[in-house]
Amino acid sequence: AAIVEHVFQVKNVVVKPLCKEQMIPTVNGSLPGPTINVREGDTLVVHVINNSTYNITIHWHGVFQLKSSWMDGANMISQCPIQPRNNFTYRFDITGQEGTLLWHAHVVNLRATLHGALIIRPRSGRPYPFPKPYKEVPLVFEQWWDTDIELLNSRPAPISDAYLINGLAGDSYPCSKNSNAHSLRMFKLRVVQGKTYLLRIINAALNTHLFFKIASHNVTVVSVDAVYTTPYVSDVMILTPGQTVDALLTADQPNGMYYMEISPYTSANSLVPVPPSTPIRGLIVYEDAKSTASPSNSLMPSGMNAISTAHRFSSNITSLVGGPYWTPVPDHVDEKMFVTMGLGLKPCPPGTKCIGPFGQRYAGSLNNRTFVIPGTISLQEAYFYNISGVYTDDFPDQPPMKFDYANFGTSVKTLKYNSTVEMVVQNTGIITSESHPMHLHGFNFYVLGYGFGNYDPIRDADKLNLVNPQMHNTVGVPPGGWVVLRFKANNPGAWMFHCHMDAHLPYGIIMVFIVQNGPTPETSMQPPPSNLPQCTRDPTIYES
Ligand code: C2O
Repeated sequence: AAIVEHVFQVKNVVVKPLCKEQMIPTVNGSLPGPTINVREGDTLVVHVINNSTYNITIHWHGVFQLKSSWMDGANMISQCPIQPRNNFTYRFDITGQEGTLLWHAHVVNLRATLHGALIIRPRSGRPYPFPKPYKEVPLVFEQWWDTDIELLNSRPAPISDAYLINGLAGDSYPCSKNSNAHSLRMFKLRVVQGKTYLLRIINAALNTHLFFKIASHNVTVVSVDAVYTTPYVSDVMILTPGQTVDALLTADQPNGMYYMEISPYTSANSLVPVPPSTPIRGLIVYEDAKSTASPSNSLMPSGMNAISTAHRFSSNITSLVGGPYWTPVPDHVDEKMFVTMGLGLKPCPPGTKCIGPFGQRYAGSLNNRTFVIPGTISLQEAYFYNISGVYTDDFPDQPPMKFDYANFGTSVKTLKYNSTVEMVVQNTGIITSESHPMHLHGFNFYVLGYGFGNYDPIRDADKLNLVNPQMHNTVGVPPGGWVVLRFKANNPGAWMFHCHMDAHLPYGIIMVFIVQNGPTPETSMQPPPSNLPQCTRDPTIYES
């Protein structure tokens, strides 16, 4: 195992991915940020030097952080942010997982520009559980704002203007009504006839689920959220914000050029702002393709068809039983939870500007508890040092019947070390029911089942997959539907469970699990590193 070291210079630079120059915070000046390559078993060391004007944390999305919960990078949950002109070094081991993940800033909105790929390959000498690809290609999907980069200071971010593939918008985004629509650079993947490529796909968009499709080609999904899957052949895939998919693409079509396309999945009704629908394209270019060949078109699912396509892709995936790191589903459950999530409307506080419909603002909650991010010390430090008044251990176990979105608090749920938790997560929006991508820090969970309507413990419990369920760190809870998750709380610390639509964080669709220490020093939390960033006395700048 090696020590892999990076320096992340966070600095404001001018970029122009669409039509307008914008000053944004970046890591090392690039968009997307640098790709991190490690092997399973390595230690990753990242020195973050904050030369931007923002408070920053970096989260290693999907990394287990076994016994390194101080390195999770969740703003005000695992640490206070790194302030401008300050540094912090993240250092942790990456063990027991392989595949594609991402890193991103974990201060609301900033992950719009501060994100990148985190690729974990097998230790040397260990093969992939699929034929070795000819080449590997990271594909980072992003959202972009041409009109209003002030989004970095607004909560939530406004609707974006377009999407990017590895920082490029392609030929379909018009810079102005009368200008040449084909002026922007397009992502091109050059392929050799007959060869197989491993696409490492990351949805780094702030607020949009994305379909991805390559004209005339099927792909074979081999991993989701860095967990190996039974090979699954599909012509289209969907990724929620925060999800990753590894898929094999074989250049098995006649020499030519083929579009790849990303387009948003809009599961919500019209009361919520609709993302831009123009698909963004890239190109697969065969080695011998004539430059004059016209690109073949692809067709994205839309409307109701989109919901069933999304559901088919999500629910058909199964884990690779017997593959590396596969562990059977624990059959004994210690802690059963029923969690309802909602997005609703509340009157605006007097004197504030409302951004929701009907002159009201959005509010969200889990079990009618709207999470409030702590202001003066991180939740995990409050837990570790036993400081009272920061959070309450009263996350409601059973949801109330009525959501009023008025029940604010910093509520955690305490879990015993090594307990197995099962959560039914029910999507109950009254104003709108859209798919919410729920992300758990520090653990992967089994997704035992998905469905529409209300979860019925008698009818639906029978249909759960306890044999080879897919595993995720982020799962889309279907609109007006449910998922059943199970995970083993084998990592002490404070771990967020939240919607990965960035806009829904300020609404409060968040909760935190505190996993207690195990019986031995080896199964207990370490003290924080001595240079863990401290909060200043001004709590207002930690608004998250
Ligand atoms: Cu990818 Cu809590 O986030």
